[in-house]
Amino acid sequence: MNASVASMIDENSSVEQRVAALLREMTLDEKIGQMSQLNASENYVPQHLGDELRAGHVGSVLNAVEVGTVNELQRIAVEESRLGIPLLVGRDVIHGFQTIMPIPLGQAATWNPDVVRQGARVSAHEAATTGVNWTFAPMIDISRDARWGRIAESLGEDVYLTNKLAVAMVEGFQGDDLSANGSIASCAKHFAAYGAAESGRDYATTNVSENELRNVYLRPFKAAVEAGVTTLMTSFSDIDGVPASGNEFLLRDVLRDEWNFDGFVVSDWDSIRHLQVHGLTANEKGSALQAAVAGVDMEMASSTYRDNLAGLVESGQLDVRIVDDAVANILRTKFRLGLFENPYTALDQNNIVGNAHALQTAKKAALQSVVMLKNENGALPLVTEELSTVAVIGPLADAPHEQLGTWIFDGSAEQSVTPMHAIHSLVGHDIDVRYVRAMENSRGRANEAFDEAVAVAQDSDVAILFLGEESILSGEAHSRADINLPGDQAELVRRIRATGKPVIAVILAGRPLTLTNIVDEVDAILFAWHPGTMGGPAIADLLFGVVSPSGKLPATFPRMVGQIPIYYNQKNTGKPPTPETVVHIDDIDTHAPQTSLGMTAFHLDAGYTPLFPFGFGLSYAKFHYENLRVAEQETQLGETITINAELSNRGSVVGEEVAQLYVRDLVGNVTRPVRELKGFQRLRLEPGETVTVEFVLHTDELAFYGRNMQLMTEPGDFHVWIGGSSDTHLRTEFRIVDNH
Ligand code: NOJ
Repeated sequence: MNASVASMIDENSSVEQRVAALLREMTLDEKIGQMSQLNASENYVPQHLGDELRAGHVGSVLNAVEVGTVNELQRIAVEESRLGIPLLVGRDVIHGFQTIMPIPLGQAATWNPDVVRQGARVSAHEAATTGVNWTFAPMIDISRDARWGRIAESLGEDVYLTNKLAVAMVEGFQGDDLSANGSIASCAKHFAAYGAAESGRDYATTNVSENELRNVYLRPFKAAVEAGVTTLMTSFSDIDGVPASGNEFLLRDVLRDEWNFDGFVVSDWDSIRHLQVHGLTANEKGSALQAAVAGVDMEMASSTYRDNLAGLVESGQLDVRIVDDAVANILRTKFRLGLFENPYTALDQNNIVGNAHALQTAKKAALQSVVMLKNENGALPLVTEELSTVAVIGPLADAPHEQLGTWIFDGSAEQSVTPMHAIHSLVGHDIDVRYVRAMENSRGRANEAFDEAVAVAQDSDVAILFLGEESILSGEAHSRADINLPGDQAELVRRIRATGKPVIAVILAGRPLTLTNIVDEVDAILFAWHPGTMGGPAIADLLFGVVSPSGKLPATFPRMVGQIPIYYNQKNTGKPPTPETVVHIDDIDTHAPQTSLGMTAFHLDAGYTPLFPFGFGLSYAKFHYENLRVAEQETQLGETITINAELSNRGSVVGEEVAQLYVRDLVGNVTRPVRELKGFQRLRLEPGETVTVEFVLHTDELAFYGRNMQLMTEPGDFHVWIGGSSDTHLRTEFRIVDNH
């Protein structure tokens, strides 16, 4: 430590005392500096950054990842500024730093908090070697819209699953000790309801009622706050007329007053300046005022705070206590991270980045993330001894960059092991593996290479098609209105199908796709998301039965895009559809009476069921559930309910199954969803093995926000299901009573 103001503050006092002592010494200018984050990416480092740091005008930088540069920036902040306050160095470490895990939506398909935690831990360690001490993850926007490009970054459609995995990610990034080497601050984003963008168009308006906000979109953030997430990022969206970066209800009433959050809130990139573009404020001064009053502590990228806050305080329009609170929130986080004691990174990049442990973690995550959607007549696993030639076809079989997915600033495609290479290494000495790319990219049109692909398939025992969409087709600002396989991929499938050879589709994508037009044309489908660095070896192991698929869908797959939003935990409506009430458009008489068509909530051309439901995923093992029981038919409010079922593996191979618990609250102060996930367990079963799956549910876990926005569990009747998917039929019931 140098002789800066910060270094004179007693290290033995409590964090709050240190925050207060430092704050007392700060000028208004220096306080506003702490509230400002500057972009310092390699090709954008402002010439004057060093001077700005010396003047105390910067609290954080983002996008600096070269360790020498980062340590130098820290040195200037710590040794050459009057106060000596270290910097927060932020980066989007979303699903890996250099070693890339599956996209978050793929990680969600593991339904395995341990795997997700380990992935975040590895990413934190790799990032920390560069001096990055803050990641903008986890992204925990509930998304029910596969058109939205950012569904790739999310943990899917469900509150319970997102809660569990969000907490695991926060724990992984932050570790047991936030100040330890290799721990970095995390950031729950985007607060809030960004995933509800109208028609899945990124940045579009969201219209969410307060009840829905509380019961769905806010819950993962509450879970993250309870798990100790250090920061939150605002969303770009307009929520109910008030864009998130100016939304006092969200940032003060809910986050501070109700949840007692004491970390800090950063705006999203430029989003304070956007308040004017939204039409909420007339100019940047107004935007800075609105955001500060609403509770945005730090501004990312734009400079409305730097340019306006001092004037606003001096003219009396902004109470300096608002500034002080914001700065205290930021300093508190810096103290908790141990940055004052240890501002520089001293981790050995060579031994940590991309090491064997990182690769193993990435492979395990990829293995568990792949969801088998179809497997007719035991087409999979492929049996090496029965094959002499295998055709590997498609634009994504050997595309090292594309398997990594969106938001991989620091990921290295050179490290990727592609499926084509992995299949070669696994079986190349026993089987002739022939590769035809067939299309330049997923958007390609039928061309001569289709003939070559058909010829190779014709000469092979089986054709494995690697289809889907490239990384660039999902992620921020990469929404699609049509979520079929792009280009002429479906045509390629049909041509290969016509050879009469078994056809296996492995689909790499950043979102659920509508697979309706190919599902009947293939024998098996492995949905692999963008599986990351080790996607290839994981897929090869699954194809050849080294490991049995065990991923489960974290989001519903629609039949047609027009069904969106489609999600399993919808409301019943007053006119719920049943198989009997559904009429198909092809079966309607032209002059049929208006009221003859079922009169329930379905689409004439798509019905009401999805192509694949939330929670669904097949295995090479054969799982069977029976004997669902509730220990107590009646449970007192405040007590627990024990629910169990028997799960057996009636197949001939070992497999892992994710057993899922769903509940329906039949009558509510506000209407309740038809099913809600309330528990899950990943279990490994040997062939012939039977286990009892038991869930213990406290009545508090059934609580929801009612009409007056109070959290409550109501006495009454509940249905309960246990099974391997959200459409399981194995159901019983219980009752909650209140005899107090
Ligand atoms: C904009 C994105 O919305 C956000 O998620 C990201 O963390 C920031 N840019 C910083 O890159």
